[in-house]
Amino acid sequence: MPQYFGQLQTTEAPWTNLGIVQAVEKNQRYVLFRCGESCLKISVLTSNLIRVRVTSTGEFLPRKSWAVTIEDEEWSAVDFEVKEQADVVEITTQQLRLVVHRNPCRLECFDFAGQSFAKDASAVGWRTGAIAGWKRIAADEHFYGFGERACLLDQIATVRTNWTFDALDYGVLTDNMYQAIPFFMALRPGVGYGIFFNTTFRSQFDIGVREPGVWRMETQGSELDYYIIYGPEPAKIIATYTQLTGRMSLPPKWSLGYHQCRWSYESQDIVRQLAEEFRQRQIPCDVIHLDIDYMNGYRVFTWNPKRFTEPQELIDDLKQDGFKVVTIVDPGVKYEPEADYSVFEEGLNNDYFVRKTDGELFHGYVWPDKAVFPDFLRKEVREWWGNSHKSLTSLGVAGIWNDMNEPALNDRPFGDPGNKISFPLDAPQGPTDETGTHAETHNLYGLKMAQACSQALEKLRPVERSFVLTRSGYAGIQRWSAVWTGDNQSMWEHLEISLPMLCNLGLSGVAFVGADIGGFAGNATAELFARWMQVGMLYPMMRGHSAMTTERHEPWVFGDRVEKICREYMQLRYRLLPYIYTLFWEATNTGAPILRPLLYHFPSDRHTFTLSDQVMLGPSLLAAPIYRPGMEYRAVYLPEGRWYDWWTGEVFTGPTHILTHAPLERMPLYTRAGSIIPMSPVMQYVDERPLDLLTIRVWAGEGEFTFYEDDGNSFEYKTGAYCTTHYRVYLQEQQIIVEIGTREGDFSPATREAIVEVVGVGEQRFIDDSTARQLRFTFRGTETR
Ligand code: GLC
Repeated sequence: MPQYFGQLQTTEAPWTNLGIVQAVEKNQRYVLFRCGESCLKISVLTSNLIRVRVTSTGEFLPRKSWAVTIEDEEWSAVDFEVKEQADVVEITTQQLRLVVHRNPCRLECFDFAGQSFAKDASAVGWRTGAIAGWKRIAADEHFYGFGERACLLDQIATVRTNWTFDALDYGVLTDNMYQAIPFFMALRPGVGYGIFFNTTFRSQFDIGVREPGVWRMETQGSELDYYIIYGPEPAKIIATYTQLTGRMSLPPKWSLGYHQCRWSYESQDIVRQLAEEFRQRQIPCDVIHLDIDYMNGYRVFTWNPKRFTEPQELIDDLKQDGFKVVTIVDPGVKYEPEADYSVFEEGLNNDYFVRKTDGELFHGYVWPDKAVFPDFLRKEVREWWGNSHKSLTSLGVAGIWNDMNEPALNDRPFGDPGNKISFPLDAPQGPTDETGTHAETHNLYGLKMAQACSQALEKLRPVERSFVLTRSGYAGIQRWSAVWTGDNQSMWEHLEISLPMLCNLGLSGVAFVGADIGGFAGNATAELFARWMQVGMLYPMMRGHSAMTTERHEPWVFGDRVEKICREYMQLRYRLLPYIYTLFWEATNTGAPILRPLLYHFPSDRHTFTLSDQVMLGPSLLAAPIYRPGMEYRAVYLPEGRWYDWWTGEVFTGPTHILTHAPLERMPLYTRAGSIIPMSPVMQYVDERPLDLLTIRVWAGEGEFTFYEDDGNSFEYKTGAYCTTHYRVYLQEQQIIVEIGTREGDFSPATREAIVEVVGVGEQRFIDDSTARQLRFTFRGTETR
């Protein structure tokens, strides 16, 4: 059953557990509990970040530099207090208290209100090939994150294996996915914490399935190594988690526009027609993706000499028309000795491909049939692979789409899903001083391929930012790449789960995410497509894609009504880009997700804990899309506060449930009172012209927003070429006051007009130079306040 090769072994051999604490050693950074041969080490990295390690042998493994970007010694030492008592040892930081019971050695955490969390249900245990920890699930505790998961938001009562896998045909019962991110956060009213399970081996979380009331983490590695991150707010948990595993860097602004993809736009003529169609129909689009057929016989880093005879001209012309080109790159290199295929030859001559323990080259079958696989764990291989992108970037390719990097491979024949294989688990990978087996490095294959790509693009395109997309990854993938959710299907259910899937990825530190709009496999109906474009407008990465043999899925193929709907929502996306780009900037600084479940902003509101069918795009916009055919009404939950209907301006006071009317043209959308959203005019592509009219839309109430701007393309923002403007709104008697702070920073946007539009009240226009100003709007007296 090849489907299950990612499963943990099911041996029921008894566990050996940590015993009685016999000695306690401490220094400035950690406390060590010796229990005979085995020991527990608790390192206080910051006052809300604790690393816990357990070894059965007494020897901790040397660190491997794969996911965590900051070594224990690199954190500046923080104060903590250790109190040794008869039965317990207490470690107190400025934010939490850890209690280690001596007999047997077990850990429990408390916040300063005395609420317990992450409490060991029993002592850490090990047996041949596995080590595990068990903790209590508290009453009313909910579980989120776990990387990429095809399900609703809360993941209590599920088993989550971390083993990257080509999850073709995935659905709600799928366990192994393309991404393996062993991180989750647990939330209950007033208490929230995250767990990063620091293992690249096949590992598994069992959230109350085997044993109700207990969650388990288990790895095939030899050490139990995890980080506890105390919140209690989700925002703080993610900020700390991304401090540990890294944050994204600012992508080019054009990559926030619409991407059009298909497997495949098979020739340069078809691509040209596609581009023309967008411009003629005035449907905004920035990016065209070229799927595998641009290559010559699926040989990576080549162009098809018959169908893409003039890639340079194609890309140049598209550029004139405001399109960027992204090409797919697969890791499998066609096995082709003596055929003058330089990628294969160079890789072979330099010994860059993965070998088996007997020294033989490992091969599998992918698009080009027999293929070999670079060992991306090695720096020199990443550099070589990275440089090979020159064949694409030198022609003007502006982004790379890394696919099949779980890695997906078959035994012969390729394409039979029952025929999938893996590298042999004992195949050595990595540099000589840090060699691991495939069992240890499997989950890193996509991450390291994305790293190779991202670092190469920075070198090959040093003046402009590039876009990188990947299907597979591990914790920290946000540092190198955006992520899309692989081969979804043109089904209503897949539309519905796309939002909780992307939200859970966001809660796992990966903010730049998207699902294929319209569904990849199968044919969307007109209605499904229209609804999907409305939802897709909310995706941080907004890409339409469809598979070979399916009907085409461009916005105009479903008739006039759907085309009009698509245009309207795509235009809205473009109008919102100043706001969305600011959210990206925030993600680079704090790791905050761009698309958020409501619990992110309302973590003490129980109603939000299992709310999977509504989302927030940043702090201000709440969407409650439609996910079923024929449905024109739906219930919407509005949390505490005042809310405005985006379309009608109608006001609601939360917490409340409302029934809203949502004909096909309408995706229910709300804003919070006090929201401030900077908007641009509609553009056909992001760089069509500089922002010449800024609309600052404001909804009466109390609120603020810092608007971020830079040139959107270069790296100059890194040396200070950006600016921020702080906006604030508040009420004073009969007036709404909007304050615009002085624009700060070295970047000077083109002179432009601005409109402050207080929704339902009025607007004022002015020339938006960098000066501070205060605008007053008078309620006309009829509005609800
Ligand atoms: C994989 C990708 C899909 C792509 C196809 C052909 O199935 O997930 O997006 O279109 O391969 O390259």
